[in-house]
Amino acid sequence: MTDLVVRRLLVDMEAPIARHWCAGDAFRTALFNALSMSFPVGEQFFIDSVRGGFRELPPEQQERFRAEMQGFVGQEATHRRLHSLYNAHLDKQGLVNHWGPRAQKRLKLMEGVDIRHWLAITAANEHFTAIFADWMLHNADLLGDRDPRLATLWLWHSAEESEHKSTAFDLYGALGGSHEWRITWFRRVTMIFLGDTLRQTFSNLRQDGTLWRWSTWKSGASYLFGKRGLVRQTFGPWKDYLRRDFHPSHHDSSASQHWLQRHQDQFAPVGA
Ligand SMILES: [Fe+2]
Ligand SMILES: [Fe+2]
Repeated sequence: MTDLVVRRLLVDMEAPIARHWCAGDAFRTALFNALSMSFPVGEQFFIDSVRGGFRELPPEQQERFRAEMQGFVGQEATHRRLHSLYNAHLDKQGLVNHWGPRAQKRLKLMEGVDIRHWLAITAANEHFTAIFADWMLHNADLLGDRDPRLATLWLWHSAEESEHKSTAFDLYGALGGSHEWRITWFRRVTMIFLGDTLRQTFSNLRQDGTLWRWSTWKSGASYLFGKRGLVRQTFGPWKDYLRRDFHPSHHDSSASQHWLQRHQDQFAPVGA
């Protein structure tokens, strides 16, 4: 069981966000903004999945999961709230969130479906988030220093994603979820997630007027496929999920612990 602390981040989300807040880089900014746009809808679904899965557990199992479920819900609810404030600034910049409404429509199809499918979708997304989070914690300098507030927001979110990466996965297992469905949903989620990320990043760049600039795609290629590239470095960890004996805890999460230890002045634990 994981001890999940809910933390209130001590950053000012009222001040506006600069157009190219991420190291002055159009591509990286557009990509991070796209991901942020997906969070309020996505994280609500993760919360509903974990709460729903918890309710289906027999009482003796509920006791084992109660604290972790509450920590998970508290962390994701805090992420949602801060990313909603973040996204409100993007609205003001004229960026249009297509991802959120599209995801909402898709998730409507899940109403009444066995909660294990919800959890398999959540666990797949959480795997994505966890490997991305770990990569980000190891490459924090790529967030640049133009907006330390947003860099802190992304690293705090990453650290907590790494902390709670097993919750949905373990609930799925406790409810007897099968390996086959876990993999089926993981493949589907991969296609949907990559498609949505690309579409929203393109849309943000088009709106920003930087879609057809050589510098945008030069930076994009190196950020995704370069030596320290996101795709290049996360492909192996992505693939590990396909193994029958995989568990999220097999992946090291010390970068998350180190960040949280070193940045205790940036947040206040809730209820402590
Ligand atoms: Fe989150
Ligand atoms: Fe999460």
